[in-house]
Amino acid sequence: MDSAMPRADAAGLAYTDEVRRATAPVYERMKRVIPEIEWPFHAPLVHAITALKRERNAVVLAHNYQTPEIFHGVSDIVGDSLALAARAAESDADVIVMAGVHFMAETAKLLNPSKTVLIPDAAAGCSLAESITAADVRLLREAYPGVPIVAYVNTSAAVKAEVDICCTSGNAVEVVESLGVPRVIMLPDEYLAKYVATQTDVEIIAWKGHCEVHERFTGAEIAEFRSRFDDLVVIAHPECPPDVLAAADFVGSTARMIDMIERTRPPRVFMVTECSMSDNIAAAVPETEFVRPCNLCPHMKRITLAAIHRALVTLEPRVEIAPDLADRARLSVERMLAVKPR
Ligand code: 13P
Ligand code: SF4
Repeated sequence: MDSAMPRADAAGLAYTDEVRRATAPVYERMKRVIPEIEWPFHAPLVHAITALKRERNAVVLAHNYQTPEIFHGVSDIVGDSLALAARAAESDADVIVMAGVHFMAETAKLLNPSKTVLIPDAAAGCSLAESITAADVRLLREAYPGVPIVAYVNTSAAVKAEVDICCTSGNAVEVVESLGVPRVIMLPDEYLAKYVATQTDVEIIAWKGHCEVHERFTGAEIAEFRSRFDDLVVIAHPECPPDVLAAADFVGSTARMIDMIERTRPPRVFMVTECSMSDNIAAAVPETEFVRPCNLCPHMKRITLAAIHRALVTLEPRVEIAPDLADRARLSVERMLAVKPR
């Protein structure tokens, strides 16, 4: 048990008969991906978090990359970055716990300035968000006067405050085209920008940031998997390098990847993205077999049941954003949310 947890709360966490009975329906949802022998370790925390959410009038928002015991066990809202931003804007809870990374918690805070927004581990960052600063964006403005700047939501609030509009991997093409201009700057993900350039006539100037998880996939790896399985369907996230996307059967945000599998139920899928997502969908589509190298996002994996529990007990770590910076950053997110999906 984590020594930083208040003693009174840690003391109550045991796999009692009551906990077993109360969490049995929850375990049912994830039994395909969590061995029965592991459940006694998760169940007391799932039980305690469920009670704390009621006490605190809190909701847990979980990104699709969270582990199954979080995704299926304690979350109220799950989704890709776009869905989490949109649903955070609609929340009437007093406390929002972001089971995701720091930029996602900042986006939730921007859209809910009066609420308590918690990120269970403040060190849960993102290599894309860390690849660019507000000063870099100001230099880009000087270098390309008059060219609108589109920021992927995987950026800090300080960067969002400097740009014209945000996008996610789920709406990037629509956002770029909504500006009605021949040329835009897209940052910080070079590969997402290159992918968008293949889907639109708008000229894209790209920053050279990369996701440390998706940049590890290669076209050669896809070819190797295809040579092993005749019926393999390859579904890739647009943060992957261009040769990977060229070799994929489908490219989309994490939510679109899930939707594609649930609609078409292919027999065998290679999900070219963070590893936990296959576990989360596997629970819902038992007929599909997932083959994959397991690339984990170390930042997403900082969020654990113990960290969520501790955050709900202590109401820390909180996300705070200076009000004038938040006002400017919020505009970029709200402009994105106003763009109509295709
Ligand atoms: P989605 O917007 O597709 O959920 O992606 C977010 C992310 O961080 C992918 O690495
Ligand atoms: Fe950032 Fe990549 Fe992790 Fe997504 S998977 S949070 S883009 S480092």
